[in-house]
Amino acid sequence: MWWENSFVKSRKRRLFLGGKSAEQVAAQHGTPLLVYSRPQILANYESLSRTFSSASKLPLRVCYAMKANPHPEILRLLRKRGAWIDAVSPREVEEALRAGFSPSRILFTGTSLSTEDLRRVFRIEGLTVNIDALEQLELMQDLKKREFRRKAIRVSVRWNPGIGRGFNPRAITAGARSSDGTPIKFGVERGKVLAALEKAASSGFVPVGLHQHLGSGWGDEDYRVVSLAVDRMTAMARRVEKAGFPLEFLDFGGGFGPRYEERQRVFPLHRYAAHIARRISEAGLGIEAVALEPGKYMVANAGVLLLGVEYTKESYGQLFACVNSGTYNSLPRPAIYPQARHHIVNSRQTFGGKTRPVTVAGNLCETGDVFGKEIPMPVPRRGDVLAVLGAGAYGRSMASNFNLRDIPREVFV
Ligand code: LLP
Repeated sequence: MWWENSFVKSRKRRLFLGGKSAEQVAAQHGTPLLVYSRPQILANYESLSRTFSSASKLPLRVCYAMKANPHPEILRLLRKRGAWIDAVSPREVEEALRAGFSPSRILFTGTSLSTEDLRRVFRIEGLTVNIDALEQLELMQDLKKREFRRKAIRVSVRWNPGIGRGFNPRAITAGARSSDGTPIKFGVERGKVLAALEKAASSGFVPVGLHQHLGSGWGDEDYRVVSLAVDRMTAMARRVEKAGFPLEFLDFGGGFGPRYEERQRVFPLHRYAAHIARRISEAGLGIEAVALEPGKYMVANAGVLLLGVEYTKESYGQLFACVNSGTYNSLPRPAIYPQARHHIVNSRQTFGGKTRPVTVAGNLCETGDVFGKEIPMPVPRRGDVLAVLGAGAYGRSMASNFNLRDIPREVFV
C-alpha cells in the first residue's frame, strides 16, 4: 500500500504497527490512543540528513520544530541523534532544555513576544534569539540595557522574502498576504533586514544568522516558489555579508511535507537540497552551516491515532463510523483546515471485501468534527479499530479538552 513504511504495515490485510497488530495494541492500551514509533522518526531524520549530505559538504543542522510534537521521548531521541531545536515559546525552550538539549543548539523564533518572554530566554546562556520585527528589537534593547547589559546574546533575523507557500492559506507564513488575503504577520520585510542587523549589533547583540520559513505542507507544485525563495535568501545573505555581518548559518525553516494522501505528489527534497547547495556556493557565502526546521517531515508518519468504532450509522445515504474521540481532542487538523487529509484504514481489514465511502465522525458537537469524509474502506463494524495515519505531527500538540473530552494517551511501540 502507498502508505506503508517501516512502522505502519499491512500484513494479511491486517494492520501492524511496529510489528504488533494494531488491534492488539488497542486491546492492550485502550482507544483512543496515539501510537508513535521511534525507529520511524530516526529513519526520517536519517533520510533528511542523507539527502542534504549527498548535495553538499556544508554541515546540516536539523532543528526539529518541536511544535509538531513536543513529547519528551521524541525530544530525547532526536537530541541523542544530534538534532537541534526550533522552539517558539519560552516553555518550548524550557522543555527542550529538560530533554537535555544544550542552549547552543536551540533557536528561539517567537512572535508577538512580551518582555517577560524575552527575559525568560535571555537568561539562558548560549541560546540564539530570532528577531521577528524591527520593532521587537526595541523591547530587546530596553531589556538588555536594564538587565543583561554585559551579556553577548546571539541573534538572527527572521526575514520575510515576500513569497510563501503552504497547503492552505493558514499555513502560508511569508509574503505580504496569504492566498485568502490575510496580512502575514511574520518576519522582517526585505527593506528592513540590514537596519535590524545594524540596530542589533549597535546594542550589543551578536548577529549570527538569517532565517526564513515560508509555510507548511509543501508538495511538488510548491517547488517553483520555494526555490525562488532560496534564491532570495542567498542574495540577501550576500548583501548582509557585504555590509559587514558575517553569517554563521542560513536557516531555511521547515515546510516540506510527508505524504498524507495517495494523490499527493511529494515535494522534491533532493532537488531542493541541490538547489540550496548550488546557490550558497554561487553566492560565495562564508557560512558554516545550513539549518532546516522540519516538523511534519520528522514525525507525521511516525504516529497513528487509533479510534474505536462505537457504532455505524446510515443517514440520508451516508455511512458514518462513529468513533470514541473528537478531532479537537486528538488530531484537530481535519476540523481546522478544510484541505487537511488523513488516510484512515480499518485495522481488521486494510483493504478488499465490501468497500464503501465512510465518513469517520468524532464525538464532539461540531459538524466539522470528522476525521475523514467519504473515505473508501471495507465497511466498518461496531468494535472495529480505525487507524488515522499521519497523526504524529500537530495532533497531540494542538489538541484541547473541547467539550470536556479527554486527550488520548500516547504510547510508543
Ligand atoms: N519553523 C517555523 C518557524 C515554523 O513556524 C514552523 C511551522 C516550522 C518550522 C515547521 O513546519 P513543518 O516542517 O512542520 O511544516 N498546524 C499546521 C502547521 C502549522 C505550522 C506552522 N509553523 C498543520 O497542522 O498543518
